[in-house]
Amino acid sequence: MRAPHSNVTMTSSIHDMFDSIAPRYDFLNGLLSAGRDRYWRKMAVDELEPVADRVFLDVATGTADVALELASRDPAPSRIVGVDFSTAMLRLGKDKVLARNAQSSVRLFSGAAERLPLKSNIFDGAISAFGARNFSNLNDGIREIHRVLKPRGKIVILEFSFPRNGFLQWLYRLYFGKVLPVIGRWISGHKGAYFYLPDSVENFPKGAAFSTVLEENGFASISFKELTFGVVTVYTGFKHA
Ligand SMILES: C[S@@+](CC[C@H](N)C(=O)[O-])C[C@H]1O[C@@H](n2cnc3c(N)ncnc32)[C@H](O)[C@@H]1O
Repeated sequence: MRAPHSNVTMTSSIHDMFDSIAPRYDFLNGLLSAGRDRYWRKMAVDELEPVADRVFLDVATGTADVALELASRDPAPSRIVGVDFSTAMLRLGKDKVLARNAQSSVRLFSGAAERLPLKSNIFDGAISAFGARNFSNLNDGIREIHRVLKPRGKIVILEFSFPRNGFLQWLYRLYFGKVLPVIGRWISGHKGAYFYLPDSVENFPKGAAFSTVLEENGFASISFKELTFGVVTVYTGFKHA
């Protein structure tokens, strides 16, 4: 486990880390998850119940895969806003939005999850895929999502977790802790990013513990479901009316 950092150091180093791995990020996602990452995002977006005339927020949008998945639904939601603090990730996201001709529905903005540059009570739904475990302050990030949702708005969080089955968990930890960091370092050229990944998953609250975080920050009717033997979990909840 890494030594604890101050929030300021952590925030800027995480920011720099994502800026630096951005060019290889999409490729490594597909490679290291054996293509499952796309399925996980689709399942999480399904939970958001994307329909026409709704407005959605994608927090820590990265290269905009979730925002684009939302935009690909037919009929597409009327507006999708993506926010991320890494300019390099956002630049790639913007290129993808243009390449898919989705610029009329998807807008990407620079900003931190803990202080969203957005007005209160404006979104029907908000999602963060593989973002929340990176927030420098998890409660602040969840509270901000709560603030910008309309009453009865829905939150969806997709995050890594651990398989419950003992053997699968052992196998997964072996892969996640020993194999993935080496491949990630080799391909991304970044020394720490893919060592940080298993550490950040280890430290993130899972299942009932994360449901409590949602509850303590104002969400109700919380539920969660595990995908791919518990490698990831999708959490949902609603802002009170
Ligand atoms: C693992 S990537 C996930 C990107 C995307 N959601 C996906 O599904 O591929 C994490 C993203 O969160 C962003 N991020 C991390 N902490 C953040 C924060 N506090 N505020 C805004 N963005 C943040 C990073 O810049 C990065 O793009």
